[in-house]
This record gives sequence, C-alpha cells and structure tokens, in this order.
Amino acid sequence: MNEPERIKKEKDGLDVYEDILRYARTGYHSIHPDDMYRFRWYGLYEQKPKNGHFMLRVKIPGGELTSAQMRTLGEIADRYARGFADITTRQNFQFHWITIEDVPDIFDRLHRAGLTTSGACGDITRNVVGCPVAGIDPAEILDGRPYVLAVTRYFLNNREFSDLPRKYKMSVAGCAVHCAQPEINDVGATAVRRKRLNGEWEYGFHVRVGGGLSSRPHFAQKLNMFVPPEKLVDVIRAITEIFRDFGYRENRKRARLKFLVADWGIERFEQEVRARLDWTPEPAIEWEEPFRAYRDHVGVHPQKQEGMYWVGVAVLSGRIRAEQMLASAALAEEFGQGILRTTNQQNLLIPYVSAGNVDTLVRELERVNLPHIASPFRRAAVACTGNEFCNLAITETKRLIVEIVEHLERTVPLDEPIRINLNGCPNDCGQHHIGDIGLQGCLVNVGGEKVEGYDIALGGRLGRDARFVRPIWRKVPASQVKFALERLLNNYLALRDPEEDFSDFVDRHTDEELASMMRVEFAEGVDDPPPLAPPPAELVEG
Ligand code: HEM
Ligand code: SF4
Repeated sequence: MNEPERIKKEKDGLDVYEDILRYARTGYHSIHPDDMYRFRWYGLYEQKPKNGHFMLRVKIPGGELTSAQMRTLGEIADRYARGFADITTRQNFQFHWITIEDVPDIFDRLHRAGLTTSGACGDITRNVVGCPVAGIDPAEILDGRPYVLAVTRYFLNNREFSDLPRKYKMSVAGCAVHCAQPEINDVGATAVRRKRLNGEWEYGFHVRVGGGLSSRPHFAQKLNMFVPPEKLVDVIRAITEIFRDFGYRENRKRARLKFLVADWGIERFEQEVRARLDWTPEPAIEWEEPFRAYRDHVGVHPQKQEGMYWVGVAVLSGRIRAEQMLASAALAEEFGQGILRTTNQQNLLIPYVSAGNVDTLVRELERVNLPHIASPFRRAAVACTGNEFCNLAITETKRLIVEIVEHLERTVPLDEPIRINLNGCPNDCGQHHIGDIGLQGCLVNVGGEKVEGYDIALGGRLGRDARFVRPIWRKVPASQVKFALERLLNNYLALRDPEEDFSDFVDRHTDEELASMMRVEFAEGVDDPPPLAPPPAELVEG
C-alpha cells in the first residue's frame, strides 16, 4: 500500500479538522506528517519553502459569491495573506502565507460567511465548477446553478466519498458553449433539451466521464444517457461509487478516473453506471456540440433579464489584491445586486448592472485596476501557481505571464481572441494542454548552466474538434518565449487566410513550419536553429 492510501486508511482526511485546531495552539513544528497530508482535505497545502506557511483554497461552487463573502475573502487576504489572493482555474480563491496559528480565525470567518474549504484539495470531490453566467446568459439552455449546488451539497462532507483513489473534479453547467470545460473534468454534465410531442421543451443533461489534464491528458467520453435534471445527482453518485470502488489506488500515477474509463471503455463503464441505478435512463439525444466556442465573459454584455448587464473584468494571472476584492464587493452592492462570479480564466464578473449604472461601474472598476476592456492576450491568459509557492514547480509563472502579455500587447496588433496557458511543470494546473498557445515549464541547459525554460505547444481547444496541443519547440529559455510568440503571431496575422482562425492556421501548418515562424534562437538539443524548415515564402521577419 502506498503512503497516501495508508494515511487515508488510518484516519479519514475529513477527520483532521479537530487536529487542525489543536495544531493551531501547539504550532507548526508539532504537526505530524500524516496529518499534514490530511490537511489538504480542508484546503491547506504547505507552500514553498516548507517553513511554516500554507496556501489555503476556498471553494466557490459554480464561481458565484455574494459581496459579503467577497468582503470576508478580502479581509482574510488583507489580514492573513499578505494582501492578495489568486482566482483559480476552478473558480476558487487561493491564499498564500497562511500560518497554522491563524487558521481557526480564518475558518471562523469563512464559516460565518457561508464559505468552506472542505474538499478543496485532497482525494475527494473538489469544487464543482459551472458557467459563470448561469442564470443571466441569454443563450443558455437552463440555469445550471441549482444543479451545481445540489451536487455540491450531496458530496460536501459526505463520508461515503471522502476517501477516493485520487482527486475528483466535476463540472455542471446549463450553457450551450460549454465554457465550464466538461471535456477535462472527471465528470462533466452539460444541459440539453428536446421537443416533446406536445411542443414543450424537455430538459436534461448529457454526462461525460474520465476527462483530466496533468501529464497524461484525456478528454472525457460521453455516456449514452439522457439524464432528467432531478436524476443528475443520482447518476453522479453512481459514477463516483465506481471510481471509489474500482479506481487504481495502488498506483497514484494511474489513479484518476480517466485511466479506469480508458481501460474499461465507455460501454462497460456505462453498463456499470446503469447497474447502480434503480431506474433506466433513456439514450442520449442528438446534440450539436459547440464548435470553437470562445467566451471569456470579459466586457459589458446584455443579460437575459431585460435592461440588465454583466460587467466582466480581466484579472491577469488571477492575482487580485485585497483592496480590489473589497472594492469589487462594494461596487457589486452599489451597482449590481451584491453578487460576483469568478471564471475559469481567472477573471471576475459583476452581474445585474442596470444600463444607467454601467458607465459609472466600469469607471470605478478601472480606478482599482480592474479593466473591462483588455487586449486579447490579457483577457484569456492563464498561469498556474509556479515556483513562488508550489513545491512541485520547475519555473516561475505569474510574473512571466505578465511579461509575455505586456510584450505581445506592444508588438502584435492581434484582432481576435487567443488563449495563452502557462504552467510551471507538467502537472498542468494552468491547463496548457488546451491553450491556443500552451507553455510548459522546464529547465534548459545553456552552456552548462540550468536556466528556466518552456516547451512551446500550439493548437489546443475544447468543443467539437477538441484536441490537445502539438509540441512545437522544446526547452526554449524563458527570456526568449515572448519573442518567439511575437514572431509566430505576426506571421499568423500576415499569412492567415481570410476565414481562418488561429486553430485552423495551426492545423494547416506542419510542426516545422510553425517552428520556423517562431525563429527561436536557442533551444537545448537543437544544433542550429532557426529555421528547421524552409519558411513560407512571405514569412514576416521579426
Ligand atoms: C501531483 C500534483 C498535482 C497535479 C497532478 C495537479 C494537476 C492539476 C490540474 C490538471 C489542474 C487543472 C485545472 C482543472 O482541473 O481545471 C490543477 C489545478 C490547480 N492546481 Fe494543481 N496539481 C498538482 C499539485 C498542485 C500544487 C502543489 C499546487 C500549488 C501549490 C497546485 C495548484 C493548483 C491550482 C491553484 C489549481 C487551480 C484550480 C483549483 O482551484 O483547483 N496544484 N491541478
Ligand atoms: S502546474 Fe506544476 S508548478 Fe504549476 S501549480 Fe501545478 S504543480 Fe505547481
């Protein structure tokens, strides 16, 4: 039995709560290593270097929170977390610099605000993600929030499912463009509807299983089921039981649900799900999957509620200061309905703003450096935690993404969306596998010295023609990455066909052609770059 399994079997992760409160009195050095591991079940993870500070992740189901909750988070950031937090790719808030002594007061504040860290990390159901414009999007199929909350409530502190083989991520959404990324979750539920004979709409969900990124990414596969909304929790319960009972606990590297689904095949997995239901689901219905749907939610957008707008602001790399959190909480109260939403692109929205309030609100947001108009690079850029705080990191990430975005804003007049996803190691917390441009941290040997570098990969996307990125360059020093991307994107602008988007452009060119467009000056193991292949005739020099 491996260490994590032993630790979980000896005491459940959820049982460490009282110990956390005790360690807060006895101090960091008294923490038993097994309990330190179990701390994850309450969102506490030791940060780098391991000298007494923690990161703390607070779950925000579906990304929706109230102004009062945001104020609590802002106060925690200010008082205990050196004045900032990170909005994460699962719509959570993550603090750094937390000490064990401060945890009881932080938990107390969170609980009073109706927030929890239970199940934020560890081998348990993580935050359930959803569409950040649920209930307000004019084109949505149904409002997914009640289902996000139903699934959240069912699994929260549920001892039947608190010792899973590995982390377990769910996405539940009612929107048509699947911005909640069902394809890369262990379970992804997406709303569908069909016309009944009497002309009325009947709503339901399609459910995918076995997606996930990390170093061996898999897209989730669809069960052949039309799931009535009131049965969604039951189906997810059955899926989660199968994972709990059959997941490969003996090997952490193959313990995610994706490996079980891949080995069994989707038909066998579905049979097992059906065997655990006391009703018989109908087959899935004909459904057009979204194609190249891009939605970053930034900007001013009309809601389905007449005369109402949501205002989305770009929070580059997700890092947000306590003052910005407190200001956005107050502004959402003054100009909206005291509600905010987080997005998986690490951005923030204020919904329910009446037409007459939009201009004042966007001005006030700009005053605290939360812009609603942002370049294509800034709107969608995502970066993981990186070596500032992450013990597994190879490279620094949050400063580098700012440097890259600012450089591209100055040098590339791009007129369409582009998603840059950057990670500090192959674990892929920043989702580089699905970026238009995916950057993965590594070390590069330059003249006998190791420097930080990146593998550059292109063409990732979700939706009907979903695919993971194609690696184009390996081991490029970090300082060169922004120049390589500048050349690539200026070539794209010069060489693209009129109807072509960046995905088509990447698909149309070979690895060698794309590599040569970047004109990388040095990459470890490549003797004589550039170019690797004759560049296209009209190649833009850069
Ligand atoms: C074996 C170790 C790890 C693996 C395989 C892993 C993998 C991943 C993956 C694939 C995501 C993708 C986002 C998504 O699911 O939508 C993610 C999210 C995330 N990871 Fe990791 N990760 C690991 C450890 C860590 C560590 C040590 C840290 C930081 C100290 C970290 C920080 C994050 C953050 C901030 C997110 C954002 C989403 C959230 O709120 O859950 N991860 N992780
Ligand atoms: S991708 Fe790697 S470096 Fe980045 S947060 Fe995840 S584990 Fe850490």
